[in-house]
Amino acid sequence: MDILVVGGGGREHAIIWALAKSPQAGRIYCAPGNAGIETIAECVPIAVSEFDRLTDFALENNIDFVVIGPDDPLVDGIVDAFEAKDIPVFGPRKNAAAIEGSKTFMKDLLHKYDIPTAAYEKFDNYEDAKSYLLKQEVPVVIKADGLAAGKGVTVAFSMEQAESALHDIMVEKVFGDAGSHVVIEEFLAGQEMSILAFVDGETVRPMVAAQDHKQVFDNDQGPNTGGMGTYSPLPHIDSAIIEEAIEKIIKPTAKAMVAEGRHFTGILFAGLMISPDGTPKTIEFNARFGDPETQVVLPRLKSDLLAIMIAAVNGTLADIEIEWSDEAAVCVVLASGGYPASYPKGIVIEGLDDVKDALVFHAGTTKNEAGEWITNGGRILGVVGLGADIAEARAKAYSEAAHIDFEGKHLRSDIAAKALL
Ligand code: AMP
Ligand code: GLY
Repeated sequence: MDILVVGGGGREHAIIWALAKSPQAGRIYCAPGNAGIETIAECVPIAVSEFDRLTDFALENNIDFVVIGPDDPLVDGIVDAFEAKDIPVFGPRKNAAAIEGSKTFMKDLLHKYDIPTAAYEKFDNYEDAKSYLLKQEVPVVIKADGLAAGKGVTVAFSMEQAESALHDIMVEKVFGDAGSHVVIEEFLAGQEMSILAFVDGETVRPMVAAQDHKQVFDNDQGPNTGGMGTYSPLPHIDSAIIEEAIEKIIKPTAKAMVAEGRHFTGILFAGLMISPDGTPKTIEFNARFGDPETQVVLPRLKSDLLAIMIAAVNGTLADIEIEWSDEAAVCVVLASGGYPASYPKGIVIEGLDDVKDALVFHAGTTKNEAGEWITNGGRILGVVGLGADIAEARAKAYSEAAHIDFEGKHLRSDIAAKALL
């Protein structure tokens, strides 16, 4: 089977690495991919937003199966575009990807079906939003409705910060149309957890849980990023809590989507907060694999990823066997100095060949004319250590990551530290 994967980050590198292990996999293409992905797939220079060019490419190259990585094209209807040309594609249609694309839709859905999430109000008018906000206690959370490259959420610890976030979203329109509606939400204290699941309608096949580290600096300091590192499993979290999140949040949400006429096929990714008393509540839903959650979850998948995805598309997901390894995985992200704000590009990366005992998934790399690896983004590489437990996996990830160097290299030194306590 010839496969096209759409996207070009660390997540897509990990997806392709897993797909390539399938006995059914033939040629694998990636659009647009990156220099690391190029080592295991054929990259095609088509952007994820160019639906016509992507579907034409798939038809011209007799692609048998398409996998969509990122959120933006899903929310814009890329799955509908492939389906319109009868090309088998893994991912939710536009009306189902709205669970990630519109926070007001997601919150209203959870509210309607009594699925645990933070209390909220939504607004399409600045004056009303502001007068409601001024009556709230801090901390309070302000969210732009639409996709904002992960920057649309402010957890405000002062009313001044909250007001300025609201003003930026609704008056300054810093996120454009994504800020025409806003959600003002109760602050949830606790620890976060990501649970991803293969979903087809009401069939939910959960993956092993993972934890991300969103802030750029150690001890969760500094601005939020796309994710600075992940690990799986979560030995410090009671398995009953994970089970409760699956039974009371993910399964009911998949069912609610079907009831709303928005049958979801693809990866449903719940971002959850576990309150200090051990109750999981929904922070967000994503309609895709997480980045860098994927980099620790897929190395633990023992079953054939391609077979699972095909089963989801064919409506036989309930029948397929899905096995996970007991091994632990820890991913440490190496980022450009300055990320998530501005950062330089084109810096030579050294030491990649010296990594012997870890997986390296490329997020933002390319090659210069001399054939050297150079930086080409904010997050550059994810180094994944595997081991019998988190301590072993973590030690490997860090010792192998130490071989890689580039000017300004930034990493957190406390990825998975919480799991060792
Ligand atoms: P989101 O883009 O919705 O995942 O939000 C980004 C981050 O903001 C989350 O990963 C949380 O760390 C934080 N966050 C979002 N909503 C809340 C909430 N209601 N309470 C506390 N933290 C939140
Ligand atoms: N790592 C969080 C995300 O992919 O949204």
